[in-house]
Amino acid sequence: MERKMNQLNRFRMKATNPEIGSSHSQGVVNMATSGNKKLERYAVVTGANKGIGLETVRQLAKSGVMVVLTARDEKRGMEAVASLQKLGLFNVCFHQLDVQSPESIASLAEFMENQFGRLDILVNNAGVSGVVTDQDALRALNIDSSSWLSGKATNLVQSAIKTTNEKAEECLSINYYGCKRVTDTLLPLLQLSPSGANIVNVSSLRGELMVSRRWSLLLVSQWLILFLTPLRLLPPWLQADTTAEDIYIICISYLSPAQRIPNEHIREQLGDLDTLTEEKIDRIVVKFLHDLKQDALEANGWQKMLPAYSISKATLNAYTRLVAKRYPNLRINCVHPGYVKTDINWHTGTMTLEEGAEGPVMLALLPEGGPTGCYFDRTEVAEF
Ligand SMILES: NC(=O)c1ccc[n+]([C@@H]2O[C@H](COP(=O)([O-])OP(=O)(O)OC[C@H]3O[C@@H](n4cnc5c(N)ncnc54)[C@H](OP(=O)(O)O)[C@@H]3O)[C@@H](O)[C@H]2O)c1
Repeated sequence: MERKMNQLNRFRMKATNPEIGSSHSQGVVNMATSGNKKLERYAVVTGANKGIGLETVRQLAKSGVMVVLTARDEKRGMEAVASLQKLGLFNVCFHQLDVQSPESIASLAEFMENQFGRLDILVNNAGVSGVVTDQDALRALNIDSSSWLSGKATNLVQSAIKTTNEKAEECLSINYYGCKRVTDTLLPLLQLSPSGANIVNVSSLRGELMVSRRWSLLLVSQWLILFLTPLRLLPPWLQADTTAEDIYIICISYLSPAQRIPNEHIREQLGDLDTLTEEKIDRIVVKFLHDLKQDALEANGWQKMLPAYSISKATLNAYTRLVAKRYPNLRINCVHPGYVKTDINWHTGTMTLEEGAEGPVMLALLPEGGPTGCYFDRTEVAEF
């Protein structure tokens, strides 16, 4: 207790005195009043200067957690903190973090250790799409949200979205290796959390191994096709001009197995927790990048839509299960946040940031005894 008080006092000193501490961190005046038990959980959110990450910080701070908002760009990160302070959230501070840089990660770990002595919540949210995009061409295609979701747009977008070697390498380095680097470095601090820490890896449905949804969805979909389409009574996300064929494709994309990673061997390797190792996952990443360079993605059964992004999330999911198995005293899960309107999808998403952060926040606040090693579709457990 005395140690914690000292840490908080040190943090307050640093917060009020910019001369103390690293230039990469900015504390917040008025944070944690020492008697307030609610502020005794400490969280780090990566890639939090905008989008789902920023909203996750807002929701966590609102629930009383002391949050370290991190961003690779100091200015953007500080502006994000200021935007939350304007909302009256002073239990948020900033620390620079580029998940590609081991030095930057080590600096964050040192900061956490010096200021708080431990970490209770880590949200690995930072991510990139892994493609070069011609935004004008993409806009001109005018693709509706149901086509994005169903995969119907896959061929259409190839002219506007390109997976270059450079972008693919960057994507794997941030979405998969970045998460691993941050987690590995912060694990000693996470293990000091008194009630068992929560790690949340923000993944995507594009990383699912098989698109298997409950058969009831087929029945519901058939019902939709038969009755709702002629009546134009479809939910808003299915847009007014959605045809029966569109709905059929959506159903098929949900129901047919092997839809997302056509290569059965890769699916089996990533899906078999008994034989899975980090080396195996890393080898899959290396093979993917090799096949990309050889222009042999399709021939070797990798996804056609956002291939680097998809494999970065599939490997992230596999890594999540592996670490969860290794550290049973922690709660370690991954989550698809939903199809959210943000920069990463050129604002084609249909959900709000508030909705998108619901899953990550729920998992960040899981109580002792909560699930671990699971994949969530928003707030519901789903199949990997
Ligand atoms: N939006 C969706 O529909 C959706 C669906 C499924 C999964 N996701 C996942 O949700 C997460 C958040 O995405 P978003 O939708 O909120 O997109 P976003 O608005 O583009 O946010 C991505 C964040 O990641 C940061 N980032 C990128 N590279 C980084 C690095 N090397 N180090 C630290 N931060 C880095 C970005 O910082 P800069 O501003 O500096 O670039 C930005 O803050 C991602 O993991 C994404 O894959 C999103």
